[in-house]
Amino acid sequence: MQPTITRAETLKPKPDQTKLGFGTIFTDHMFNMDYSIEKGWHSPRIEPYAPISMDPSTMVLHYGQAVFEGLKAYATESGGVQLFRPGDNFKRMNRSGKQLCIPAFGEGAALDALKQLLALEKAWVPRAPGTSLYIRPTIVATDPFLGVRASFTYRFFIILSPVGAYYPEGFNPVKIWVTKEHVRAVRGGVGEAKTPGNYAASLLAGEKAHAEGYTQVLWLDGVEQKFIEEVGAMNIFFVVDNEIITPELNGSILPGITRDSVIKLAKNWGMKVSERKISIDEVMAGRSSGKLTEIFGSGTAAVISPVGELKYGDDLISVGDGGVGPVAQRLFDAIQGIQYGQTEDPMGWIEPVC
Ligand SMILES: Cc1ncc(COP(=O)(O)O)c(C=O)c1O
Repeated sequence: MQPTITRAETLKPKPDQTKLGFGTIFTDHMFNMDYSIEKGWHSPRIEPYAPISMDPSTMVLHYGQAVFEGLKAYATESGGVQLFRPGDNFKRMNRSGKQLCIPAFGEGAALDALKQLLALEKAWVPRAPGTSLYIRPTIVATDPFLGVRASFTYRFFIILSPVGAYYPEGFNPVKIWVTKEHVRAVRGGVGEAKTPGNYAASLLAGEKAHAEGYTQVLWLDGVEQKFIEEVGAMNIFFVVDNEIITPELNGSILPGITRDSVIKLAKNWGMKVSERKISIDEVMAGRSSGKLTEIFGSGTAAVISPVGELKYGDDLISVGDGGVGPVAQRLFDAIQGIQYGQTEDPMGWIEPVC
């Protein structure tokens, strides 16, 4: 199913690439496609970026039946544009959709449509160091209906936003706050799905962390509040005695594509990597014994986000020597190098676009 293309009559001015923030500027075109029970996914189209008009009773506005993704297109030094593991994003989107009773779409067709959209918007992919074009595929329930059930109709759209470097002032460790008062997700819930409710549920704890002077919340499990799950909207890693440990995927953790890339690269380098339960008590004890040397988050936005300080109740621990640890630095350089086409791609993760 080839998307039809309707070009915008006037194009927006391009932003100053040295002053890009995150998620405020959108390109000239977007991809849209609709779903109905009779037609399945149909009418794929690339058209001018425009508001979506909705009846106030539209189901997504009331019950949050929606899924989304986040990935980036990178400009290479040779003038090309490329994606990093985009097939995994569309796979995860369908997995998220299954949990939200959203009908599956064709992943290959979605990737082809994204590539066509990117080819049309190539001039929007920023080329300044560390910048990229953020890609937000989304599906929302569109029935105008106020009862609680799965919608019969949906809209799938992809929008694009040029974004600045995550670390414009350099790659620095952040301070995180462990909350026992709030949980992000629970066993049997939708924590492993990329769905809006999980993010809405994280806001209050995030605001409390900011008020205390911390950048991110460290989430503990929703049953015993003992085992570590994620940090902010990132997966989390610990380096203990030269071993990399990350919480095992348990249904309430988002299976990050950067997380998977970290695990595969580190194993490829011959490092010991364990996916297992790790408790906050084990982390605190690891700091006391000196065996815990690094903590870092992983995600599309930051790639790697080193943690310099962690507050748990009345205990405050510092991790490392205030700078970026060697494992975090090596992973950051390796993944970013692959994404921007500056280094070899030993895993075949790059998808050239145009
Ligand atoms: C809750 C949450 N955890 C982890 C991640 C990291 O996932 P990825 O590496 O695929 O960006 C994200 C970002 O997508 C997220 O929103």
